[in-house]
Amino acid sequence: MAIPAISDQDFDRLTRAYPSDRRYALAVMQDMQRRYNYIPPEGLTALAEYLNCPVAELYSMATFYKALSLKPKGNHIIKVCDGTACHIRGSVNLLNGIMAALGIGPEETTEDGEFSLELVNCLGSCALAPVMVVDGVYYGKVTLESLPDIFNRLREGAAV
Ligand code: FES
Repeated sequence: MAIPAISDQDFDRLTRAYPSDRRYALAVMQDMQRRYNYIPPEGLTALAEYLNCPVAELYSMATFYKALSLKPKGNHIIKVCDGTACHIRGSVNLLNGIMAALGIGPEETTEDGEFSLELVNCLGSCALAPVMVVDGVYYGKVTLESLPDIFNRLREGAAV
């Protein structure tokens, strides 16, 4: 997987809307995450310089917030719920099926950079257990048989 880097021009574009004030650190990092699917190390360093704050402060924010990642994520983020209701209704089987289909484990990304897998707690849709969320779209009562079709459509860029 090609790891995207951040150029000086990109950084200028990202920070254009934000004053040089550490109050905006999280907002800029969220923009970086959206743009690159992670926080590039050079982006963190450049931001620390721009905001005149220690890199360590930004680093701790980047590791604290689950929405931010210091490791490149895939184009599609799959979140499998392992809350109680989903666990009882087969989330472990679902997770195993996804791992087998994609060849990755939780917190990993496929070689082609298409998918990242995360294991999460209750997604608030227990009646639909087992539940997974892909790019913010909820899938309820997911079966192993439905996975290939879902992944193929995502790979093809079709709305699922
Ligand atoms: S336990 Fe999975 S949605 Fe609630």
